[in-house]
Amino acid sequence: MAPKLSHHIISKALLLLIIQSLFVNSESHSRSLQLFEGAQKGYTFKGLNHVKQYLKAFGYYYSINDVNFTDHFDSLLESALKAYQQYYRLEVTGKINSDTMKKMSTPRCGVRDVFNDSNDGFKFRMVANYTFFNGMPRWNKRQLTYKLRSSAYVISDRQLRPIIARAFGKWADVSNFTFREAWVFNPSDIVVGFHRRFHWDNYPFDGPGNILAHAFAPEDGRLHYDADENWSTNNLTRLDQIDVESVSVHEIGHILGLGHSRDPNAIMYPYYRPGTIKRNLGQDDIDGIRALYFGR
Ligand SMILES: *[C@@H]1O[C@H](CO)[C@@H](O)[C@H](O)[C@H]1NC(C)=O
Ligand SMILES: *[C@@H]1O[C@H](CO)[C@@H](O)[C@H](O)[C@H]1NC(C)=O
Ligand SMILES: *[C@@H]1O[C@H](CO)[C@@H](O)[C@H](O)[C@H]1NC(C)=O
Ligand SMILES: *[C@@H]1O[C@H](CO)[C@@H](O)[C@H](O)[C@H]1NC(C)=O
Ligand SMILES: *[C@@H]1O[C@H](CO)[C@@H](O)[C@H](O)[C@H]1NC(C)=O
Ligand SMILES: *[C@@H]1O[C@H](CO)[C@@H](O)[C@H](O)[C@H]1NC(C)=O
Repeated sequence: MAPKLSHHIISKALLLLIIQSLFVNSESHSRSLQLFEGAQKGYTFKGLNHVKQYLKAFGYYYSINDVNFTDHFDSLLESALKAYQQYYRLEVTGKINSDTMKKMSTPRCGVRDVFNDSNDGFKFRMVANYTFFNGMPRWNKRQLTYKLRSSAYVISDRQLRPIIARAFGKWADVSNFTFREAWVFNPSDIVVGFHRRFHWDNYPFDGPGNILAHAFAPEDGRLHYDADENWSTNNLTRLDQIDVESVSVHEIGHILGLGHSRDPNAIMYPYYRPGTIKRNLGQDDIDGIRALYFGR
């Protein structure tokens, strides 16, 4: 009896830690240990609206009332959790368990995983792991220019320049795209930079942790990094650091028209483990960019 009990307490404590790192706000400190443990349909848990907001941001939770999420565990939340668990190949329970919370607390790209495509609704494209944005937007030209422009200072353009050039090079190697930095006073197809919190698009950054960066589908060209992360520019990324080059290769995939991939080996996989370096395209990424530009 005793060992079983202590194991139970440890797993609850772990769950709380995960929840706190996921939704860092003043409320979270007053939450009781049992908060979301085994949370399931029909119950009400203080703070549960954060889980709804998270699932909505990445395309899993749809609701008519987008403004006021309640803390009630409704059937929409249950189906959203199931869809999320299916996407990430977790046990599909429709309940909140520690595997699900652990996944949600890992830093990730801010671009949604699932698009509400009126044609195929909430179904996933199961044939391949790579995906495209709704309507498969693509660039009509192959010679793209870019510019560095930040509203928050994190690293100098001089430091960023070779990193971003290498990241573009990864995609140029497997496609017909060429990338060149534009002259200062000329317009460019792509604009890359660091921003903090609200930065004049509809997707304000969330401060340290969770969302690391986002980018827009063709032919928009905006690529934004969250200035509040601990960015690393060399090959010695610490466990609490985020490798700029790894995240850049991923975001450039979005710039070119790729959505997220369910393949953990793909650069287009949504989550990023801090302290790791993942700068090379996977076969799934190469298949994806070729399907988008040469496939039809
Ligand atoms: C997708 O969006 C359409 C309207 O754009 C809406 O009618 C439909 O209910 C949405 N699908 C889901 C699964 O929410
Ligand atoms: C949301 O809640 C606020 C305050 O609780 C209320 O004033 C507002 O009308 C609600 N909006 C909707 C769409 O329910
Ligand atoms: C890509 O480049 C190759 C060789 O440069 C060329 O043969 C091919 O037509 C190009 N494809 C497209 C879609 O531009
Ligand atoms: C950034 O680094 C500092 C110092 O190492 C650390 O205290 C902090 O938690 C880190 N922030 C994130 C979001 O990892
Ligand atoms: C990091 O490693 C790559 C490949 O091993 C190398 O090309 C690059 O110069 C290294 N960068 C730094 C800053 O040491
Ligand atoms: C998708 O990714 C998974 C996990 O890496 C892999 O096992 C599977 O073969 C991939 N499917 C396709 C169609 O590439």
